[in-house]
Amino acid sequence: MIFIVSSNCLLVKIERADIIFLMVTLKNLRQQISTVAASVEEQLPQINETTRCEELRVHLLGRKGEVTQLFKLLGKLPPQDRPIAGQLLNELKKKVTAALACRLTALGSAPQQSQSKTERIDITLPGTYHPHGHFHPLSQVQQKIEEIFLRMGFTVAVGPEIETEYYNFEALNIPAHHPAREEWDSFYIDETHLLRTHTSPVQIRIMEERKPPLRIICPGRCYRRDNQDATHSPVFHQVEMLWVEKQLSLANLKYIIELFVKEFFGKRYQMRFSADFFPFTEPSIQVHIRPPYSTDWLEIMGAGMVDPIVLQEVGYDPDQVTGFAFGLGIERMAMLRYKIDDIRLFFQNDLRFLHQF
Ligand code: DAH
Repeated sequence: MIFIVSSNCLLVKIERADIIFLMVTLKNLRQQISTVAASVEEQLPQINETTRCEELRVHLLGRKGEVTQLFKLLGKLPPQDRPIAGQLLNELKKKVTAALACRLTALGSAPQQSQSKTERIDITLPGTYHPHGHFHPLSQVQQKIEEIFLRMGFTVAVGPEIETEYYNFEALNIPAHHPAREEWDSFYIDETHLLRTHTSPVQIRIMEERKPPLRIICPGRCYRRDNQDATHSPVFHQVEMLWVEKQLSLANLKYIIELFVKEFFGKRYQMRFSADFFPFTEPSIQVHIRPPYSTDWLEIMGAGMVDPIVLQEVGYDPDQVTGFAFGLGIERMAMLRYKIDDIRLFFQNDLRFLHQF
C-alpha cells in the first residue's frame, strides 16, 4: 500500500496500479479550505496590479481553479458530511470573491472593468477640444452699442460706403471750399464720388426717406486719408445716432448720452460736455469720459442739436421738429473699454490678440 501526498495535500491511497481510491475526509477538506483561505489572505495584499488580481481569480475560481477543484471533491465525501462540506466551500468561495473585489476596488478598478481593457473608459481624461470662432472685438463693440440703443427704441439704418459729395458734405452744411472739409481729408473715386469720411451722410439719406419722428443708429465703415499710426487708421468704423422729434432739447441729448456711457462703460466712469463746432449741429458739443483708473478726460464723441439748415435741406420744418445727433468711433470705444493703446492691432489679424476677446 502506497500513500501519496498530492498537490492538494489529499491522501491518495493506491491499492493496485490500476485501481485508484481517493480517500477524502471532512477533516482534510477543512484543512484544504483553511490553507486556500490563508494563502489568499497572504497573497492579496501583495498584488498591486489589476491583471495580477485577475490571474489569481482564475487560479482560484476558474474552471480548473483550486476552489473549483475542491467543489469536485464533494461527491467523494461520505454522504453525511456533504451538507456541511458544501456550506464550508460556499463560504470559502464567497470569501475569496469578496476579497478579490475588495482588492480590485483598492487598486482603482471596478471588477467588471478589469474584464476588458478595450472597453475601459477613463473619465478623468480631458474632453475633446472643439475650437469655435467668435466675433472680432470691433464687431462685438458695435453689437454692444446697437443693443443699448435698440433697447431705447432706436432702429439700425445703413448707407453706402461710396458717397456723393452732396451727402458726405453739402447736405451736412459743409459747402465746397468750406475750411471744415479739410478735417475730413477724403479718398475720391471720381469728380463727385468719394469713400465716405463719416457716417453722418446716413442721417441725410434716412431723413429724406422718412417722416419724423425718427430714431436711428447707423454703424459703418469710414475712410480718411490719414497715415496709419497708433491712433489713426485710414479705414475705421463709426456709429451715428440721430433722434428727430417735437421739442427735443440738449437736456434730452445729455440724458441719452449719459445713459449710454453708463451702460457701455459702467457706472464708475464720469462724463462731461464741452463746446465744439460741427457745421451740421448747433450747438455742437464734445463728450469726454474719465475712467475710474485715470485722471485724464478722454474724448469719446462729437454731438449736438441738428442744425436747422440741415433739417430744412431734407424737407423737415425746423419750427415743428428738432433733433440731436452724435458720431463716435468704434475703434476708440473699443480701445477705451479694453485698454488697447494701438489701433493697428484691430487690423493685423493676429490671433494672439483676437483670442483675448
Ligand atoms: N461726423 C463727425 C465726425 O466724423 C462726428 C459727429 C459730430 C457726428 C457731431 C454727429 C454730430 O452726428 O452731431 O467727426
